[in-house]
Amino acid sequence: MSRLLHVSSSPRGPRSESLALAATFLDTYREHNPLDDVDTLDLWDGTLPDFGPAAAAAKMAVFAGEEPQGAAAEAWSRAVATFRRFDSYDRYLFSVPMWNAGIPYVLKQFIDVVSQPGMVFGFDPVSGYTGLLRGKKAALVLTSAVYGPGRGPAFGSDFQAPYLRDWLAWAGVPDVEEVAFRPDLATADAAADRLRAHEAARRLAAKF
Ligand SMILES: Cc1cc2nc3c(=O)[nH]c(=O)nc-3n(C[C@H](O)[C@H](O)[C@H](O)COP(=O)(O)O)c2cc1C
Repeated sequence: MSRLLHVSSSPRGPRSESLALAATFLDTYREHNPLDDVDTLDLWDGTLPDFGPAAAAAKMAVFAGEEPQGAAAEAWSRAVATFRRFDSYDRYLFSVPMWNAGIPYVLKQFIDVVSQPGMVFGFDPVSGYTGLLRGKKAALVLTSAVYGPGRGPAFGSDFQAPYLRDWLAWAGVPDVEEVAFRPDLATADAAADRLRAHEAARRLAAKF
């Protein structure tokens, strides 16, 4: 039995393309894996801790082999709790709209909160970083409304998919699959593209 966590980063609720694709993925996944635990972490629900001065101080203290104190210790325990919840799953589905060529800031905040030494990564001055997440895999549902591969520089760049793939590989999750919905507003039929994306989400979920 596996545990799948859907990390949701669009705030657009019923109007969200990425959430609709994630719902299609999760429906199919549940059909094929009825005994698995499947949960959603809505990054906009107000429970995600911030990662400000106290948390940054805690991270640097831990990196230096020291014990965080006071406000830093409190921020550290919130980061540890968020990491532990994330780490209790072995499969991840990230649903991610493109925002300004990258990812919504709540998802970056989540990544900053959980990416801690001794949890997500180890570091050695000679050999560099080691990802500490083990035995996990991830699927990405990616949407954008202007950018699309092959559309040219006037339609923007993609720091969404490469960033997420890189973060996951760095954290120890090289096994990453993806479904993208990037309708071409100039030429294509968005409805047909949407149907194809939902079909791709079903196929991916059936073998995930
Ligand atoms: C704040 C914001 C920034 C956006 N930036 C981009 C962008 O840089 N490139 C792009 O192609 N689409 C951009 N979009 C459009 C969204 O990526 C697109 O509508 C996507 O399907 C939204 O996903 P959602 O419906 O799941 O929220 C942006 C939308 C918002 C709200």
